[in-house]
Amino acid sequence: MIVPVRPVIIAANWKMHLSPTEAGSLAGRIAAACAAPQVERVLCPPFVALAAVGEAVAGSGFAVGAQNVHQEVAGAYTGEIAAPMLSGLASWCIVGHSERRRDFGETDAIIGRKVLRCLEAGLRPILCVGEGLAEREGGRAEAVVRTQLVGALADLGEGACRAGALVIAYEPVWAIGTGRSARGSDAAAMADAVRASLAEMGWLQGASVPVLYGGSVTAASCGDFLAEPALDGALVGGASLKVEEMAGIVARAALTARARAEAGIRG
Ligand code: PGA
Repeated sequence: MIVPVRPVIIAANWKMHLSPTEAGSLAGRIAAACAAPQVERVLCPPFVALAAVGEAVAGSGFAVGAQNVHQEVAGAYTGEIAAPMLSGLASWCIVGHSERRRDFGETDAIIGRKVLRCLEAGLRPILCVGEGLAEREGGRAEAVVRTQLVGALADLGEGACRAGALVIAYEPVWAIGTGRSARGSDAAAMADAVRASLAEMGWLQGASVPVLYGGSVTAASCGDFLAEPALDGALVGGASLKVEEMAGIVARAALTARARAEAGIRG
């Protein structure tokens, strides 16, 4: 009997770095260094570099993702990008990153609409959630993440996320760009809490939603997370701009993917 296993996903968040030419060049080098078909690999460059990165990774198995999208389909929103415009350029999209929550006032309600727009446009949303340091130290981390999930997803319902499109990234705010990552066991406990929240919302397939960890992941630290059965990969920021870091992270992820595939085949 084949028991379905969750995929292993490594997504790179390049944030506001690199010109289209630079991004295309880096993407080509990363794709060449990260051949691992067992791992779903995604590069998320700035909007203006999506086409260049798409060309650079064509045929490599890498997918391309955006870092944000507007919550409306079209309209008078100067400077914004709508999900349907990403057709042919991206197949994934990061939504609700803590930098967008903090710097652009994105609320859970807005983020939920962005998730919906992604799903309507055939994009796989990576919904980011995570607590701040005071919330973690105050013992409120799980409650904060639960509130973020319910606020973004409860109105959508499980049906909106059919076909397994949704991915959740647990990114504690205090771990992003700080060099201080969470403990693997704490991140795994949060992944369990994420799935418990989905179950509380009545999501029957919640257990199959991939949960990634993000926050100062490097080639050296990624094993802590990829060894946890509850975690399904990583959303990588700073380290994803370095070929050798990505090569190390994807190679480690391939070990987890292979182990899962073997464990999933029984009898
Ligand atoms: P970091 O960023 O890996 O540089 O901490 C992660 C993210 O913001 O997604």
